[in-house]
Amino acid sequence: MIRKVVRYLNNPVLEQVAEPVTEFDTPELHQLVTDMFDTMYKSHGVGLAAPQIDVAKRVAVIDVTGGEDEEEPPQKLVFINPQILSVDGKQTGEEGCLSIPGFREPVRRAKLATVRAQDVKGDWFEITGEDLLARAMLHEIDHLNGILFLSHLSALKRDLIKRKIRKLQKAGEWE
Ligand code: NI
Repeated sequence: MIRKVVRYLNNPVLEQVAEPVTEFDTPELHQLVTDMFDTMYKSHGVGLAAPQIDVAKRVAVIDVTGGEDEEEPPQKLVFINPQILSVDGKQTGEEGCLSIPGFREPVRRAKLATVRAQDVKGDWFEITGEDLLARAMLHEIDHLNGILFLSHLSALKRDLIKRKIRKLQKAGEWE
């Protein structure tokens, strides 16, 4: 089921620390993950965190192919209660967020990230991502800690974007 993606500004769930998942392999958790992939693909994103659909749980999904690459099969990754084990190097690239549609800005992140997380059954796994996957994992884990990519921009740029969003909200063009 496609869920509504909540947008930045006036949605406190996006700026709160999400709660750990304690029960695994439940129908609710499977449904949440399925819905998150459906919602992410529909929105043409490469990652989605549960708070973005108003669920304050430490769950994120990523598919760096966006599920739209005809040559490559989907690469569905589910991260529950993820922890960053290590990061290395630097990369700067354009970043966007389904909760802040229409705004993309260069963000500096680590080039490599190793993350430990649980799967839907509760089993722990480790994954090392490079480039886009590293960026996506760090962006989504930020979400679970109530941090948006705007936090990585200069205060000047962040305030400018906030002002633009408020204007769109007033005009009723930001739902
Ligand atoms: Ni995002």
